[in-house]
Amino acid sequence: ATPSGPYDAVIIGGGPGGYVAAIKAAQLGLKTACIEKRGALGGTCLNVGCIPSKAMLNNSHMYHQTKHDLERRGIDVTGVSLNLPQMLKAKDQSVTGLTKGIEMLFKQNKVDYIKGSGSFVSPTRIAVKLLDGGETEVEAKNVIIATGSEVAPFPGGAIEIDEKQIVSSTGALDLQEVPKKMVVIGGGIIGLEMGSVWSRLGAEVTVVEFLGGIGGAGIDEEVAKQFQKILAKQGIKFKLNTKVMSADKVDGKVLVKTQSAKGDKEETLDADVVLVAVGRRPYTEGLNLEAIGVEKDNKGRIVIDDQFNTSVKNIKCIGDVTFGPMLAHKAEEEGIAAVEYIKAGHGHVNYNGIPSVVYTHPEVAWVGQTEQDLKAAGIQYNVGKFPFAANSRAKTNMDSEGSVKFLAEKETDRILGVHIIGLTGGNAGPNAGEMISEAVLAMEYGASSEDIARTTHAHPTLSEAFKEAAMAAYQKPIHF
Ligand code: FAD
Ligand code: NAI
Repeated sequence: ATPSGPYDAVIIGGGPGGYVAAIKAAQLGLKTACIEKRGALGGTCLNVGCIPSKAMLNNSHMYHQTKHDLERRGIDVTGVSLNLPQMLKAKDQSVTGLTKGIEMLFKQNKVDYIKGSGSFVSPTRIAVKLLDGGETEVEAKNVIIATGSEVAPFPGGAIEIDEKQIVSSTGALDLQEVPKKMVVIGGGIIGLEMGSVWSRLGAEVTVVEFLGGIGGAGIDEEVAKQFQKILAKQGIKFKLNTKVMSADKVDGKVLVKTQSAKGDKEETLDADVVLVAVGRRPYTEGLNLEAIGVEKDNKGRIVIDDQFNTSVKNIKCIGDVTFGPMLAHKAEEEGIAAVEYIKAGHGHVNYNGIPSVVYTHPEVAWVGQTEQDLKAAGIQYNVGKFPFAANSRAKTNMDSEGSVKFLAEKETDRILGVHIIGLTGGNAGPNAGEMISEAVLAMEYGASSEDIARTTHAHPTLSEAFKEAAMAAYQKPIHF
């Protein structure tokens, strides 16, 4: 076949990394195509990740709050019941609306959307097996690989995912019934978010985590402890320092065998549904990378340099399929920077300024270094903490769990990390996930905690807790 193109840039994968790169490339005047095999744009994040999970988190929270939290606020409601099919439908509608939106943006920006699965024939030529049948080839001056990640299977094949009774996050976003008992394997972000959803909807949830703390990589240990206490109060049970060995379907139940991390205690838990949330792994199947010599590391990640170049000239790589945290906004930033390298020869991502947010209730959000990082690096620092229980608006909203914690360099007062746990409810504006952006911005501009402490924050707002934590890091807060 005669290849279409030649394109200035072809992006393989239409997730947050790939679609953002495609739009940016077109905006910068590059003739651009994006190849996506899912049949919908937005990747993992939009189709089976960030967006559907946030729809379920928001609506399960509203259900739970209406049922258990309104009475003390002077609102009597009776006959509250769950309509799960409608809640799932609302989730599906938010996904469809947004994926269609990206298709519109592609049209507006003149990105060619090629629906099919891409495979390298040579570094500049890609064969595409089209979803509608047939094949085509595209010619590219530059290629960006943005093929993302997939659910990591349980090691050794000891647990088989059927997406009905033993589910990954994908199945957990679409359970047709609230399980009576749910066991979650892995106390990382997926385990805690999806565990929260089904716990609020009525399931008895037990999270089994191999490590001594929850929240996954990068969370501040003190925050993780506080977080676990709050979730436990909400009814989620935790088994830490405990490893799941196997899960087997027996008489309509799943029997989960666990072993203490030390190996001296074994236990069998029974569940109606088991969620396997032990991480994700890079996805490169079918790309034919071996044939063109694109190098991968021992974890299957595509190896890149600091300008997103793979080992093959004119092929770049971004997002979950390469190094770094598997986060949508990280993939997006890399998408833009990689395109800027192609167009102008320079681009930039500040890996120290990538926030993490766990969208539970309360939310947990952080950016920069943790206390354990600073201790390990031998950096002298000041800590400034302020609890939401001392913030007037949080008190007024009757939603005052959690705190803001600043970590600032002792000698210079430069902000090194900010860790927030708290807020979501009361439908009252900023929560940890929104508030963390102020910290990210401050760090991007090299601010000190005094800079924040001397910045006026409106009263009464939750953000005053942010300011007062900064005051605590540099001198003293007023209200605590
Ligand atoms: P992906 O989104 O995985 O997109 C890659 C795309 O490439 C896919 O659509 C795939 O079909 C396509 N593709 C692969 N191979 C080919 C090929 N050969 N040809 C054509 N197309 C191909 N991150 C956050 O920041 N916030 C969150 O709240 C959040 N929540 C999440 C919740 C869940 C349940 C999960 C699973 C993940 C969540 N994440 C979240 C992580 C986030 O989804 C990923 O970090 C993000 O999607 C990575 O983007 P990407 O573009 O690198 O890859
Ligand atoms: P994760 O790596 O964050 O957590 C997995 C947890 O499982 C770890 O704490 C690990 O110790 C534990 N584990 C592994 N094997 C175990 C065993 N046999 N028994 C008990 N525990 C075991 O991975 P997770 O939660 O699956 O998430 C994958 C990725 O998706 C993350 O990298 C995250 O960045 C991304 N994500 C981001 C979200 C957000 O930003 N809000 C939401 C959901 C996912």
